Amino acid sequence: MKASIKFSKDAVISKIDERIYSSFIEHLGRAVYGGIYEPGHPTADDMGFRKDVMELIAELKVPMVRYPGGNFVSGYNWEDGTGDRAKRPKKLELAWNSVETNEVGIDEFQEWAKRVGTDVMMAVNLGTRGPEEARNLVEYSNQKTDTYYANKRRENGFEEPFNIKTWCLGNEMDGDWQIGTKRANEYGRIACETAKLMKMVDKDIELVACGSSGPFMPTFGEWEETVLREAYEHLDYLSLHSYYGNPEDNSQEYMGSACIMDSFIRKVVEICDKIKEEKKSDKSIMLSFDEWNVWFHSNEQDKEQEPWQIAPPLLEDMYNLEDAIVVGDLMITLLKNSDRVKIACLAQLVNVIAPIMTVTGGGVWKQTIFYPFKYTSQNGRGTAIKAEIEAGTFTEGKAENIPNVDAVAVLSEDEKELAVFAVNRVIGEDAEVELKLDGFEGYKLTEHVSMEGADLKAGNSIDEPEKVVPVIKEIGETLKLTGGSWNFLKFEK
Ligand code: AHR
Repeated sequence: MKASIKFSKDAVISKIDERIYSSFIEHLGRAVYGGIYEPGHPTADDMGFRKDVMELIAELKVPMVRYPGGNFVSGYNWEDGTGDRAKRPKKLELAWNSVETNEVGIDEFQEWAKRVGTDVMMAVNLGTRGPEEARNLVEYSNQKTDTYYANKRRENGFEEPFNIKTWCLGNEMDGDWQIGTKRANEYGRIACETAKLMKMVDKDIELVACGSSGPFMPTFGEWEETVLREAYEHLDYLSLHSYYGNPEDNSQEYMGSACIMDSFIRKVVEICDKIKEEKKSDKSIMLSFDEWNVWFHSNEQDKEQEPWQIAPPLLEDMYNLEDAIVVGDLMITLLKNSDRVKIACLAQLVNVIAPIMTVTGGGVWKQTIFYPFKYTSQNGRGTAIKAEIEAGTFTEGKAENIPNVDAVAVLSEDEKELAVFAVNRVIGEDAEVELKLDGFEGYKLTEHVSMEGADLKAGNSIDEPEKVVPVIKEIGETLKLTGGSWNFLKFEK
């Protein structure tokens, strides 16, 4: 196929908020225990954090990590994870039928985040708890006052506040699987009152309200409108969650996943702007796509897990090449919408639907999805530039009229580098690309890396950790995007 891709310097989408490269650690499976934390591991630091895991996270340049859930947060008492570890309660954890030891809590996690060089995005429990516990947690985390919860933090060894800026008002409160599910108006009210109190304790924090758990939810749309009508004045962001997959093994249909994400984002933007208009507000609500990824490989094996284990191996999806192409494509979509998507969290970071896997007591390895995330996060900082593309479309199964090729560019702040991220979604059909750079005189292609290969089902493992790695492409006169590939092209001036 022939394709033309044009980037004009003035086709600016937005300056990219670096929090679009955030991720997520939940008290779920082996994300915390056996993931980021394993005292006694040969690489463990003085607090028991695995340094081999930290090193891989550093490669991903993750600016913020959402914590402690997810579904977990809706039954969580944050106080259980603070203070003397010998006295912390071991509890039944109802979201994932596990046992939570509380060995790691906010005290340890914020210290881990500091060591990794990332910020914490903290979620409060609006399932079994409410405004009171949330405002206490803000005081514990952020206040300098001589008052009960700020003093508790000091007693626990942290003189300086944690200064957590971004907070989630609960998690997926529309889902009937959620502990303490709410109807839209119930959630809107509690989100509003909780937000008010949290901002009274610290006026500088930013708040994310729960949107729908996905576009498939029966209340999608109506939920967003109701929540925004109730709480608009106190909110900064509305959340979106979505997971993609290929359960029916139709790889070509699966290549259309990013278009589903794109239409979800556009619908939520439309709703936010409708309520802005209704409220005659000057403020636009921005989006926090705080859970996104591929998730389906582990569904069956998770049904076999015995309940009430500590850190069972849950949601351990083993990713393959086609998943990596889709993840890269989803990141292109996030960047294309970076005028409204200011936060996005790859769910999750370690062991649980994750780019980084560990062996308890053993090594670490990179899943296929590690690579598109790494290249985009490392090179996609600056200003997003829109692409004009002519390449035709395909229809396969439920994926209708999907553009064969998609792309976005990012101009670095110093304008020395232009990163192009591009996908050819048509498996088996290469695209010969005419790439036009308008207003980018003197920029030369210096690097072309792709995720591609003959076996879309190939993946990595602890035994074959480098079976699927990025392909370094030769730079020639013509530009080709292999059929079924995700690509990073670096232009330098
Ligand atoms: O990321 C895994 C789970 O997916 C989260 O706990 C929940 O919010 C979502 O359903």
